[in-house]
Amino acid sequence: MLAQTNTTGIILVGLGALAFALSIAAFVLRNRARGRKAEVPNALRPGPADAALETPLLNRLQGWGVVLMTFFVIWFPLQWLFEPSRNLGQENELRTLAIGRGAQAVLPYSADNQLGVGCTRCHGNELKGGVVPYTDPTTGVPGYGYPPNLTTICEGILDPTGGHPTIVSVNDIYQVIQQGRGDMPSWSIRYAGALDDQQINDIVTYLINISSQVVPNDLNICTNPDAQAKALALAQKDQVVTEKP
Ligand code: HEC
Repeated sequence: MLAQTNTTGIILVGLGALAFALSIAAFVLRNRARGRKAEVPNALRPGPADAALETPLLNRLQGWGVVLMTFFVIWFPLQWLFEPSRNLGQENELRTLAIGRGAQAVLPYSADNQLGVGCTRCHGNELKGGVVPYTDPTTGVPGYGYPPNLTTICEGILDPTGGHPTIVSVNDIYQVIQQGRGDMPSWSIRYAGALDDQQINDIVTYLINISSQVVPNDLNICTNPDAQAKALALAQKDQVVTEKP
């Protein structure tokens, strides 16, 4: 997309340079033609009549009007045509930057990594799951489970190993990170956490990116609407089952 925008830019600059060169050439040629005709010194020649002064001036102004009009008639549709690909290019660039910031955020804080908040402390070095068991949030019994593998988070409830039974959509990922759950601390400043919305956005964008490289597309509840619908149906079915006495 960016390459396409660049090509358009180069073509436009080329056209501009050509127009500039042509106008200089026209100017020089016209002066030369005049120079050949000059037999009487300028100061001794009779001045031009009012009408003669006016007509070329008017013609020139109208000429410029046509030139500018032509320019805009070409420029506006070109801008309009390339607007979608330009927007997409910018969006991809922003996403790449967000993923980069998210990747730093999940690592521990250090002088070199001031964005780091250290999700890896609990979720494991590569976020592939922690090794220190946590306490059951409802019964308070320790050794209940391990902090989940976040690299498969986009499989959510569809994960065949049952790694993410409560994750049905991207919203759920946001919710756990913002509000915390059991031994998972809350991270949003709105829930007494340390991160603002932008930082949490970056982290979720990063998590979606890494897990989309691992999770098959037909199970990816983050990016595939069909998988998302399947997950929602499964969650509702589970709910009906658990609500039975
Ligand atoms: C103090 C340890 C700890 C830290 C630090 C931590 N987590 Fe967690 N996290 C947990 C535990 C424990 C769970 C499981 C909670 C539960 O299910 O009751 C969890 C669950 C999650 C879940 C839900 C996973 C699922 O499959 O349901 C997400 C998403 C998550 N954490 C993201 C993060 C992110 C992002 C960070 C860093 C900003 C982070 N965590 C930092 C302990 C931690």
